[in-house]
Amino acid sequence: MGEHSSVTSISPLMATYSRFPVTLVKGKGSYVWDDQGNKYLDFTSGIATCNLGHVPDVVKAKVEEQISNLWHCSNLYHIPNQQELASILVANSCGDQVFFCNSGAEANEAAIKLARRYSQKIKGTDKFEVVTFEKSFHGRTLATLSATGQEKIQHGFYPLVQGFSYLPFNDIEALEQLYELEPAAVLLELVQGEGGVIPADADWVQKLAKICSEKDILLMVDEIQTGMGRTGSLFAYEQYGIEPDVISLAKGLGSGFAIGAIIAKEKAACAFDPGSHGSTFGGNPLAAAAGLATVTYLVNSKLLEQASKVAEYLDTKLEEVKTQFSFIKGIRGKGMLKGIVVEENALQIVQAAIANKLLILTAGPDVVRILPPLTATIEEVNQFIVILEKVFQGI
Ligand SMILES: Cc1ncc(COP(=O)(O)O)c(C=O)c1O
Repeated sequence: MGEHSSVTSISPLMATYSRFPVTLVKGKGSYVWDDQGNKYLDFTSGIATCNLGHVPDVVKAKVEEQISNLWHCSNLYHIPNQQELASILVANSCGDQVFFCNSGAEANEAAIKLARRYSQKIKGTDKFEVVTFEKSFHGRTLATLSATGQEKIQHGFYPLVQGFSYLPFNDIEALEQLYELEPAAVLLELVQGEGGVIPADADWVQKLAKICSEKDILLMVDEIQTGMGRTGSLFAYEQYGIEPDVISLAKGLGSGFAIGAIIAKEKAACAFDPGSHGSTFGGNPLAAAAGLATVTYLVNSKLLEQASKVAEYLDTKLEEVKTQFSFIKGIRGKGMLKGIVVEENALQIVQAAIANKLLILTAGPDVVRILPPLTATIEEVNQFIVILEKVFQGI
């Protein structure tokens, strides 16, 4: 308690999170342990972040090697891990250049800044609008909450940053408005995560990409939740037959170390020149070591193939569970990003799951979100289904 504090009974932490009554102290693979020694099956992956499971050996080894040498030096100097990580991201995506930052919101901030810069510096227009979609989630900074198509995220933070408009998601006809709006960019999630695990329709995405290409509107995909193998391919856009101009990443990129990035095609990337954008920590030697080990493993191992098979099995099992409980309205999602649509009781289900030593999430009041690590096994899925059925029986 600070000497000058006049309040004696409040938490030293601001109340930004309503936390579950669990204190986690250890993790390995698909499991975490609390401070009482209880073991939980973790199908949240730290909100789509620990895609290789907790404390994966390949990442641990690389981070341990780096931690003995150099943690931080700033971006005034060359950072080999960063350089190598950028090369791998470029080699495995449709992009040409990478900018590193520390989080998803910062990655989207960079994307929004790049869109404005591209429009004003490269195209020579005064356009700055970015079109996003209803129910989207793009972050908590002022620009990214303004980009987010959910009023509850914006409430109390007015005035918003100007230059965002929201179109209905998966609505082909609404895309015609882009001809009139002619924004600098469009920013979308290919599976809306926080908004309720809603996959974009392929024909809608393809029409959107076609309009963007015709009108030279930057097509920017927010792959912060869907990227790094979460939906079955390294990036979700690969499943849509499109080539975005900008991809934003964070979460799974560092397996739990704070690192974010945008990958952009050269035509847009060249809008950033020295002094136009930056970050003290962005892609520092330690975070870049975690990112490098993570992405190297994702592209060189058979993990994505294996995860797709386990995800298919999970789908089949969830469909079986659905037939037993009338309050389940549907199962949706892609790969290891699944939503169980329920009544307005998602939180109650998540709380009951915790009591049964299973960690899962909500995505709004009526969707239970399941985010297993990509390393999850068939046996772990079976264990998950047994607990889930028990939880549902008690609801
Ligand atoms: C799609 C998407 N974009 C952006 C963010 C923001 O990322 P961060 O919390 O790292 O700022 C999130 C986080 O949930 C997300 O799911």
